[in-house]
Parts: sequence; C-alpha cells; structure tokens
Amino acid sequence: MEQLNDLISTQSILLFCYLLGSVTFILGLKMLSHPDTARKGNLIAAGGMTIAIVATIFLYKGHDGEGLHNYGWIFGGLVIGSVVGTMAAKKVQMTAMPEMVSLFNGMGGACAMLISVVEYHHNEYPSMGMMVIIVLGMIIGTVSFAGSIIAWGKLNGRIKDRTLPAGQIINFILFGAIIIMAVMLIGGFSDSPALFYGILAAAALYGILFVMPIGGADMPVVISLLNSFTGVAAAFGGFLYNNPVMLTGGILVGSAGTILTILMCKAMNRSLKNVLIGSFGGAKAGPGGAAKEQGNYKEISLNDTAVLMAYAQKVMIIPGYGLAVAQAQHACHELEKVLEDKGVEVLYGIHPVAGRMPGHMNVLLAEADVPYEKLLEMEDANDQMSSTNVVLILGANDVVNPAAKDDPSSPIYGMPILEAEKAEHVIVNKRSMKPGYAGIENDLFFRPKTSMLFGDAKKVLQDLVSELKQV
Ligand code: TAP
Repeated sequence: MEQLNDLISTQSILLFCYLLGSVTFILGLKMLSHPDTARKGNLIAAGGMTIAIVATIFLYKGHDGEGLHNYGWIFGGLVIGSVVGTMAAKKVQMTAMPEMVSLFNGMGGACAMLISVVEYHHNEYPSMGMMVIIVLGMIIGTVSFAGSIIAWGKLNGRIKDRTLPAGQIINFILFGAIIIMAVMLIGGFSDSPALFYGILAAAALYGILFVMPIGGADMPVVISLLNSFTGVAAAFGGFLYNNPVMLTGGILVGSAGTILTILMCKAMNRSLKNVLIGSFGGAKAGPGGAAKEQGNYKEISLNDTAVLMAYAQKVMIIPGYGLAVAQAQHACHELEKVLEDKGVEVLYGIHPVAGRMPGHMNVLLAEADVPYEKLLEMEDANDQMSSTNVVLILGANDVVNPAAKDDPSSPIYGMPILEAEKAEHVIVNKRSMKPGYAGIENDLFFRPKTSMLFGDAKKVLQDLVSELKQV
C-alpha cells in the first residue's frame, strides 16, 4: 500500500501532467499544419499547457518540501492575462495579426527576462552553469522583448523606419560589450548587480537598434526570428526550474520559429542577412511610391468581366494582400459559388508568401468557408495555368510579377511566382497602378492578355456577383 502511495506520489502526478503538456504541445503543433485540424490542434495544445500550469501551481514542491506561495499574485496575473489576451485576440482584425503576434511574443521575452532577474536575486551562490543559464536567458529574452515591441510599433505605424549613421558599427560594439560583461559576471570577475543590470540595459538597446533599421514590411520575418529567440529564452527557464514542459515548449517554439524564418526567406528568395540589413520595401522603395511609366494598360468593365468568366471552363483566383485589406474573402467565396452554379470550375492559386504572414491566404479563405481542396499550392496552380481560361488576380501584385523570372536586376529576381501570364486571359483587380510590398513595377499589368479591373476588392466582387447573376 505504501509502495502504491509512493508510486502515485504528488511528484509523479506532476511529472505525468508535464508529459501530457509536452505530448499535447507536439500533437497540437502537428495538427496546426493543416487548416482542417488547426483549430483543434490549438485547443489541444492549450488544454495540455493549462493542465501543466494548474498542476505546477497546486502540486509543485521545492527542495524544502514547500509548495508555491503568493497565490494571490499568481491567480491575479492569470486572470488579468487571460481576460486581456482573450479580448485582444477576439477583437483583432486578420490584417493586424502580425502586430498581435509581435506583442504576445514580446511578452514571452519579457517573462524570460523577469525569470532571470528573479533567479539572479534568488540564488545567493549560483554555480557557473546556473549563471550561464540565467544570463543567457536574460539577454535573449530582453533582446526579444525590446525587438518585438519595436516590430509591433512599426507594424501599426507608430514607429517609422530609422537608420542610425554607423548603426551597424554601434550594434557590433554593443554586442561585444554584452559578451564581455556576461563573461565577467559568469566567470566571477565581478558579482555586482550593476553589471547584471548593465547587461540587461545593453541587451534592451541592442534589441531596439537591431530592429529599428529593418524595413517595416519585413517585420513578419523579424517577428518569426524573435519568436525563435523567445523560445530559446523560455527553454533556458526550463533548465533553470528543471521543468520538462517548459524546456520542451521552449525548444519547440525556438525550432518552429527558426524553420518558419528560413521558409519565409526561401519563399521570397532572399537571405536572412538581406532581410535584416537590406531595407527591402522600406522608405526608399516602399509601398505607395509612384509607379514609373511603362507603356499602356487596358481596363475592362464589370460587365465584360462577368461575361468572360461566365463562359469560361476554368477560372483561377489568385488572392493577395489587397484581398485581406479589403476583407473581401466572403464576397470572393460568393463569386466562386455563383460561377460554379454556372458550371465553371473555380480554383485558387495560393502563393506561399501572398499577404503579410505565413498562411495568410489560407486562413483568410478558410474564414469564408472556401473548401480547402480548392486551394492549390503554387506548383500545382502553375501546372494548371495553361489550361485556365481566366485568371482573376485579387489584390495580389509581387506574387505574380514576371520580373521575378525575367529581370535579373529586379529585387525580387529568383522568387518563385504564380505564372498567371500563362493563362488565356488575366484580369487584375486593385485600386490603382501603385506597386505592392516590394515597391516595384509589375510588367504583367501592361501585357496584351491583361486587363485591369480597378476598385476596392470587396466592392468589385460584390458588383461582379450581381452582374454574373444577370448573365
Ligand atoms: P503585394 O505585392 O503587397 O500587393 C498587394 C496589392 O494589393 C497592392 O499592389 C495594392 O494595390 C492592392 N490592394 C491594396 N488594397 C486593396 C484593396 N482594398 N482592394 C484591392 N486591391 C488592393 O501583395 P502580394 O502579391 O500578396 O505579395 C505579398 C508580398 O509581401 C510579397 O512581396 C512578399 O514577399 C511580402 N511578404 C510576405 C510575407 C508573408 S509571410 N506572407 C511576409 C513578409 C513579406 P493598390 O494600392 O493599387 O490597390
């Protein structure tokens, strides 16, 4: 009986909860890779983490056999955090999602930083190994926190892109200073709290200066990179508290963030270095810059568009950032249904970096209940392009720009694109001839097969649906 009691001791229940938290986190991540299972995956991972957190609060016992204290603070924090987080997530517009992710990620970095600060004061005689973990967790967490807040400010327009003269040199010196101070503290050359806080201040400044010169439009990549930093900082926390679920979660977030960063760079055919110091899509070539004159383009009326589409056999819709801005996903689904009622096959060509965040178009169209089987990945969409009668480009620009294939001097040269020009007719809906994210001209708009259908995507699609119903 005693043995059984030992076996089912509180500590083994706690460990079991941690195992559950880790397994559900991995399972949840796997399920996030498909829209059909993503919501459930998110809930499963969150449920597992909740179990791990609640178990820690009630079952954790320190070396002295004592449980946690300060329940008022813990539950106060939990309640405030849950309410603010839920309300913010419910209210956020899809286009503002990168902003929110950035802010949440910053909070994760701040937590890792605070854990290090608390543990620095908590441990009177820390071992060198423990100091390494405390200091590294603090540095990485602080950089992630400061950088994420700047990224958040840039995305919502509160902070403008700014390059300091000799900014890179300053950052290099700052980085060197952080390393030297960290070695002094860890190596025991000084145990002054002033040194610890000096490192913290330098890391915060480094985070700010690191993100400040990067073009606002490159923020999704930067956020993904900072997200991986936060994961690593959280993993250090896991080491510190000997907490397996924090360690697994941190490592998974760190590696997922790194993989996502690499994938985004690959899909844009840019190196991470180019993203970090390239000032791509920044003030110089930013969206809104005037397009230089490049021959003539022709316009098409709503009525002609409706006729062309109604008598097509296959229509491919290529959505882009403008569709998200216009919140025209429901109108788009409506168009698809009207066309299908007329016997037209409708498919969607999805570019991996269309929009402003990974999976942006998939999430957007899923919100409007567009069947997932209709969304073709870029390679499959390109295979179908020559048998497509009408390509309808909705608020997309860079992802269909032939310069990526034809013009070695173009900043997007080498980026894989949706080859819309291979279809029989190309109809482009946008509001003007202004460039997209990369700030460059798009020759596709001036090609003989292409017709421009100007206007806000939502309004145009609603009007197009009405026209089609009369054809
Ligand atoms: P963009 O090249 O940015 O073009 C979007 C177009 O939408 C603009 O040219 C704009 O033209 C039009 N538009 C804006 N509001 C509209 C509205 N209300 N109605 C209709 N059209 C509207 O978008 P894209 O083709 O989706 O390409 C994405 C770009 O973002 C790529 O360069 C990619 O590398 C970059 N990027 C993507 C990610 C991820 S992960 N998705 C991350 C970072 C960067 P008008 O102003 O004339 O309307």
